[in-house]
Amino acid sequence: MAPPLDLSHHFSYSTKKRELSNIKDLYKYFLIPGIANIAGGLPNSSYFPYDTLEAAVAHPQRFAPSGKDSDDARSSRVTVPRESPAANPLQKIDVNTALQYGIVDGLPPLATFVREFTRNHLHSNVPYTNGPDTLLTCGATDGFSKAIEAFTNIWDPDRDWVHHREGILCEEFVYMNAVSTVKPRGLNVAPVAMDAQGMLAHGKGGLADVLENWNQRKGRRPHLLYTITIGQNPTGGILSVERRKEIYALCKEYDIIIIEDDPYWNLQYPSAARLAAKYRSVATTSSSTSTRNYNANGRSSGYKFLDSLVPSYLSIDTDGRVVRLDTFSKTIAPGCRLGWITAQPAVIERISRITETSTQQPSGFVQAMVAELIMGQQVGDHAAAKNKQSDQSWRMDGWVRWLEGLRGEYERRMQDMCSTLEDGKYIIDSDDVTQSTEDSSWEVVDRVQMYDFVWPEGGMFVWIKACFETHALYHKYPVEKLSRAFWVFLTQSPHLCLLAPGSMFAFSKGATERSYCYYRLCFAAVPGDEVQDIAERLTGGFRAFWQKKDLDGIDVDGDVSGMLQSLHTPDMGNMLGTGC
Ligand SMILES: Cc1ncc(COP(=O)(O)O)c(C=O)c1O
Repeated sequence: MAPPLDLSHHFSYSTKKRELSNIKDLYKYFLIPGIANIAGGLPNSSYFPYDTLEAAVAHPQRFAPSGKDSDDARSSRVTVPRESPAANPLQKIDVNTALQYGIVDGLPPLATFVREFTRNHLHSNVPYTNGPDTLLTCGATDGFSKAIEAFTNIWDPDRDWVHHREGILCEEFVYMNAVSTVKPRGLNVAPVAMDAQGMLAHGKGGLADVLENWNQRKGRRPHLLYTITIGQNPTGGILSVERRKEIYALCKEYDIIIIEDDPYWNLQYPSAARLAAKYRSVATTSSSTSTRNYNANGRSSGYKFLDSLVPSYLSIDTDGRVVRLDTFSKTIAPGCRLGWITAQPAVIERISRITETSTQQPSGFVQAMVAELIMGQQVGDHAAAKNKQSDQSWRMDGWVRWLEGLRGEYERRMQDMCSTLEDGKYIIDSDDVTQSTEDSSWEVVDRVQMYDFVWPEGGMFVWIKACFETHALYHKYPVEKLSRAFWVFLTQSPHLCLLAPGSMFAFSKGATERSYCYYRLCFAAVPGDEVQDIAERLTGGFRAFWQKKDLDGIDVDGDVSGMLQSLHTPDMGNMLGTGC
């Protein structure tokens, strides 16, 4: 194993110039037990109006893992005390510490837990000396924005030469917030063709093609690649290890930093390929039916569940060119605004400098509550043994069990939605044909396919492709209009389904043209026991629309904001997945 490469030439001008905040540098001395701290401008913690922070919380076994059905509805209480008796700052989870100004790393016990989870369990095989570092963020959005600040300079067409313009590669259908982050900085957004797995390494429009044929008149060849590799948003694919290796080799060759945004990493569905094959009567390969151990040739994560998950780009990152974004938004709650970045230490050091003068660290309330939930009071071995009965915290085992339970919940929803969609793909188009025999009539029956989709192997979305070419109005209206009419039609009674139109995820001319056939369905957002009913309403909507001979009564040119008011319609099946 070699140390990570020096990639400092990728840093932006301002990132190179950042210096350690001298006041933040003092913070580490605040942690010395008994120190008389008269240096910092800290408010007095005895005036904080919270004596404790308390909550009733779930047991880690609340949700059954895939293939099991033993939910546990119990909850227990956790309390963050005003002052922890622990002398060691790494064990102090209390109000006085969490709500005070603190070091950029975050609340020490939580920062340590995240680091340990990341290095020992989530990515137990990172191939550079001493492994990666972590830094707490206010969620993946914050992590991405800091990574972009670290690696890119703003480009202004009225001020800067075009050859200074930087760029970022991404999947051709991509999470829109990422594009909204980079576009105002003047970056070129360079789409790369994809298939059901995700980004293509080779072939037309694949990464190699885009890089080899880069037109310098548009700006510099991109030095960043943004990718969502597990449960891709919006397409739901999982990028295989084999494809990762091909893409990584190209990034090495062209010196590209990979920003891997993986909010859905624990939501990987081994049943998707098997069920799709069963419904479609095709043979499965043995690798798609058995659970793999991705760490079989390296260090185990310590958990069968984690070993079975397709590993991050970090697992092949010999150079240290991967910056990974994680979040608690999908594993605890989006409102936590808590996540972390994992990267080689020199990158984490620069992003720490950016954090010092922006968010400083995530909210103390959230850090304390999450630390208490997962770690519990860290009061030393003797007291811990005495308190074992009353200690309801999850610890590492409970945290991993919780992640597995969430996977089980979302996998069942995915199965409910996809099996219903599978059953409703066709409409029967029958034409009575004249009687040909004395006592029997017969008819010609045509099965017309209205849509197609790939069973998502991960995440929260089904990417469905409407086959508008089989619709009677296909030659009468442009696809863009038909697509919008269909979207509006679905929001109307009795269908009442709100889908995310594919065009929301397309940022190039080619992708936009193709996007009109696609819609993203979020099976996570609707109540679990309604997934099937809502999917049936959707297939009913398809059938009704495919029988239409005109677009009368559909306000195709209506104002979108007006239509979105329909979100507040009772019974609306909201598959938009608002906010993501
Ligand atoms: C790909 C992707 N990245 C980032 C986010 C936002 O994550 P966070 O809430 O941690 O900012 C989402 C949310 O839906 C997402 O789908």
